[in-house]
Amino acid sequence: MTTQTSQSEPKRLFIKTYGCQMNVYDSERMRDVLRPLGYQPVDTADNADLVVLNTCHIREKATEKVYSELGQIKKMKEAAGGKMTIAVAGCVAQAEGAEIMRRQPAVDLVLGPQAYHKLPEMVARASRAVGERLETEFETLEKFDALPKAREADGPSAFLSVQEGCDKFCTFCVVPYTRGAELSRPVDDITIEARSLAAQGVRDISLLGQNVNAWHGAGPKLEGDGEWGLGQLARHLAKIGGIDRIRYTTSHPRDMDDDLIAAHGEVPELMPFLHLPVQSGSDRILKAMNRGHTAERYLDIMRKMREARPDMALASDFIVGFPGESDQDFEDTMDLVREVGYAIAYSFKYSPRPGTPAADMFGHVPEEVKDERLQRLQALLKQQQTEFNASKVGQTIPVLVTGKGRNPGQMHGRSPWMQAVHFDGPDHLAGQIVDVKIVGATLNSLAGEYAAAVEAA
Ligand code: SAH
Ligand code: SF4
Ligand code: F3S
Repeated sequence: MTTQTSQSEPKRLFIKTYGCQMNVYDSERMRDVLRPLGYQPVDTADNADLVVLNTCHIREKATEKVYSELGQIKKMKEAAGGKMTIAVAGCVAQAEGAEIMRRQPAVDLVLGPQAYHKLPEMVARASRAVGERLETEFETLEKFDALPKAREADGPSAFLSVQEGCDKFCTFCVVPYTRGAELSRPVDDITIEARSLAAQGVRDISLLGQNVNAWHGAGPKLEGDGEWGLGQLARHLAKIGGIDRIRYTTSHPRDMDDDLIAAHGEVPELMPFLHLPVQSGSDRILKAMNRGHTAERYLDIMRKMREARPDMALASDFIVGFPGESDQDFEDTMDLVREVGYAIAYSFKYSPRPGTPAADMFGHVPEEVKDERLQRLQALLKQQQTEFNASKVGQTIPVLVTGKGRNPGQMHGRSPWMQAVHFDGPDHLAGQIVDVKIVGATLNSLAGEYAAAVEAA
């Protein structure tokens, strides 16, 4: 690795990101790790020197998208006379490995989510057409240790990965196979990264993990060897000057402990938004999914959360048409949704994934039944989302201004409850937390009027 190249000629890097926020975070880290080699991010794959597809394997459609995209990029590579390196990263890379290069020979490199620190070396080798082109070993700790801890921030909000992997093995899900076993980063590492972000003006940090509330990292070295939970971590990060908002995603009901719930009542920086996927409201289906909790246990957590923080916005994921799901099971899901009342939720038709236990179960639900159930569920969720947004009209709320809006003079930002907010205001508000009076609401956003700056101390 040399930095000489970076001085001589900047190279064009295009990364396309699919899937979850972990991938968004990983794409940022790939940019960080390639920057010293002279790679500058660009917005299109045309004429890029290096194209990275950071892929998702969660549903069949997600995986197929990657191969059709690769077909397009192959044409660009040909048009560039072969002067383009194509890398496939992420969960499809992990799951399919060398098969990707067989299906699309234009691909130069395949690397799984635990190998990003090796990217510079692999790219250098690929450009000389020597060495290994496949890297899909699980070495998560090595990855975290090897990636630079200082980060380049982009705006006032940032993701910070604290936990990777999953040991839950829900019977429908590929993540335990693509991301490996659960692993938590130590507090000291997380603190260094958080401070580096805060020093660059980041005010809002989202702690990421496939099972973020399973995080149980080693406490600060100065305070001995004890292990911390996520509630303690949130209290600790809240003390870093400049960090005004802390979120975490995605959580699992099995790992929700009383200390984290209590922290929501005590730490003002901990935002009133909880994404806690339930998948189904039927205990029979939850059991077949191997979720390890009942609908009642989930509802109990939601009730406790609302006691600790009455304005808590609740979010979830749902799967309809899991094998064996009857009309009654689906009605149980609808009942659960009515009981909770969601601010936002994501819902999917069950997609059989190769190698997962559910793919071999009996009772696969016909496509048209899945369609009908998804439509009914989404109609209910949309109605709840619209009502939740409308409940903010008339209130003056603190908005983190994330940048300029689409129209001249317009700014956009985010509410404590994760809603997009737009309002007229001066450019210099970007990066600040300001009071905005909400005057309108739609399904996807709030419209407001700028009231006054309420800079946190
Ligand atoms: N770790 C998170 C979610 C990971 S995947 C959790 O445990 O909640 C994101 C969402 O994709 C899941 O919550 C689930 O709703 C959905 N999903 C996962 N596998 C799926 C499959 N085979 N078919 C349809 N949806 C799926
Ligand atoms: Fe997948 Fe279940 Fe793990 Fe979430 S908890 S990543 S749904 S196996
Ligand atoms: Fe997709 Fe992998 Fe995330 S399968 S949802 S990118 S962990």
